[in-house]
Amino acid sequence: MKLHLTWHDHKVTKTDRAKQAGQKPCILWFTGLSGSGKSTIANAVEEILHANGNATYLLDGDNVRHGLNKDLGFDEASRVENIRRVGEVAKLFVDSGQLVLTAFISPFAADRALVKALVEEGEFIEIFIDAPLDTCEARDPKGLYKKARAGEIKNFTGLDSPYEAPQNPQIRIKNDNITIEQACEPIIAYLVEKGYIQWKDNNDR
Ligand code: ADX
Repeated sequence: MKLHLTWHDHKVTKTDRAKQAGQKPCILWFTGLSGSGKSTIANAVEEILHANGNATYLLDGDNVRHGLNKDLGFDEASRVENIRRVGEVAKLFVDSGQLVLTAFISPFAADRALVKALVEEGEFIEIFIDAPLDTCEARDPKGLYKKARAGEIKNFTGLDSPYEAPQNPQIRIKNDNITIEQACEPIIAYLVEKGYIQWKDNNDR
């Protein structure tokens, strides 16, 4: 199908928006098993960034699947499409000058690589929330592992659907026996060190 569309360049650019926001926009892509702590850590990181005066937005799997992606299930094709759409949305947020945090299992390495390829060099930061399956299953915050073991949920990640752990994530958090503050620390440190954000003095870090 030929679509008769023309790309319009906007007068206000990503660089202008980023400059006004005083930050280098990027995607903080959290990946990990269900129950690994992605959403909890992403939430806490966003809180810290917000308090620091940064412009942020958090896209979370469970929430996005209530709206934009409510037509998608958990078979392989649906997960691929889930991540493709989220990647495109995250790219728009980067273009808007924001620091966008995403918390999706995103089990397939190829899909994460596709998102990385959508944005410019340095705009995709992969954060692997690494917690062993048995720890996630023991936590079972939503009771879903129990249901999956009982056969009530099919294609459950880590059980009857694969999780491809990142080989070279920018940040890897072993989220086992550490506090939320300890989990956030290396992420904030990375953003400061690489110049994505400036740490404000009136903050007590
Ligand atoms: S992804 O694999 O497509 O990236 P996503 O992060 O959007 O997954 O959604 C995962 C969340 O959906 C889990 O945290 C859990 O609450 C819920 N869920 C429901 N069914 C499944 C399933 N079969 N596998 C994994 N998570 C599921």
